Amino acid sequence: MTTRVLTGIKPSGTPHIGNYLGAIRPAIAASRAADTESFFFLADLHSLINTQDPQRVQRSTLEIAASWLAAGLDPEKVWLYRQSDIPEITELTWYLTVVAGKGLLNRAHAYKAAVDRNREERQDDDAGITAGLFMYPVLMAADILVFGADKVPVGRDQIQHIEMARDFAQRFNHLYGKDYFVLPEATIDDAVATLPGLDGRKMSKSYDNVIPLFAPREELKKLVFSIVTDSRAPGEPKDTAGSALFQLYQAFASAEQSAAFAQAFADGIGWGEAKQQLFERIDSELAPLRARYEALMAEPEKIEALLCRRGQQLRERFAIPLLKALRHAVGLRALSAATDAPAATAVDRAVLPVFKQYREKDGRFYFKLLDGQGALLLQSEGFDSPRDAGQRIAALKQAEHDDALRAAPVTLEAEAGVVLAALRQLREAA
Ligand code: TRP
Repeated sequence: MTTRVLTGIKPSGTPHIGNYLGAIRPAIAASRAADTESFFFLADLHSLINTQDPQRVQRSTLEIAASWLAAGLDPEKVWLYRQSDIPEITELTWYLTVVAGKGLLNRAHAYKAAVDRNREERQDDDAGITAGLFMYPVLMAADILVFGADKVPVGRDQIQHIEMARDFAQRFNHLYGKDYFVLPEATIDDAVATLPGLDGRKMSKSYDNVIPLFAPREELKKLVFSIVTDSRAPGEPKDTAGSALFQLYQAFASAEQSAAFAQAFADGIGWGEAKQQLFERIDSELAPLRARYEALMAEPEKIEALLCRRGQQLRERFAIPLLKALRHAVGLRALSAATDAPAATAVDRAVLPVFKQYREKDGRFYFKLLDGQGALLLQSEGFDSPRDAGQRIAALKQAEHDDALRAAPVTLEAEAGVVLAALRQLREAA
């Protein structure tokens, strides 16, 4: 069985090497595993929650697609697509919205944090908060459920969203009596350590300490040489522990290379020389990616065509058939089909026979078997205890032949064949 792994990427600016090492490189490596079907998409609908700058939305979407392709994603093996190219996702968002508990959404971290900020500033709870932010988890659930993803690799901050997706899926499945949705699982990779930035703090846009993944060679060199170090002179031994420079080197090097670099630290390599080595190490891995990135960015129409083609294939293969079934499930049906029998699952449940157990005035315990319409099929004699009655029922449920019916102290109210058929139906539904 192949496992479907799905990852959403919010297009926001150009990625830096922290994104590359922490997310892009491991995700692409994982997508090459056998028995995995990977779905990577640009969450452009989500990005509208954060930015209303159309140029930025368009530019970021292109940059992120080009980045993942340049980093080695194979677009014929992996599904790379754009969320907004799959209109079924927005339609599904509505079917999930109407089963989603508002109370659950109230507890979403991002929304709660925004409310808390408002309270601190003594503003109205919902000041400046859009319904888009509030509904973020529902759209995300639709992303995941539309393609039946089994696994969703996410950071810890996103686990709650996956749990919500499970909750909505479960409610829908239960309400409409069939497993329309796979229940997704979050997978967390704690092995990826956070990468330090130029100043030694975690590399992050908000600290303005990042190395852009596709910085031109000269800029990369300047940035690497601006990494903060201590003031030890050449010849003095240097600490690898806590050294941002060393950690960056390690992230790009093999174990042997890192060991040799650590030795150079102990031997008192000068910071200038150490930076030169780090720069060469990073550049040798990133130069081919940079060249591919630039080529891709020069021909946006190629990426556009790829995304359109893959999006269309996904719709035909998964999204359109699923939404057709869902529309029928919820009752959005052709009016000319109004006299249709109810959906198969509803029928199955309605006509399922049942055993009823009860106590009579004589103090004894009885049971009877009714068909789905409530017609009496068989009637038991009285038993001394509910347990005795229960055992007879259990035995009857296994009955395949007339003799089994005769062995039980029951009176048949319908033909033996009808009763046996009802028992078989119960077995199959169990
Ligand atoms: N919320 C995710 C993030 O901020 C992006 C995202 C949107 C996503 N839809 C998704 C991730 C579906 C996984 C699955 O990083």
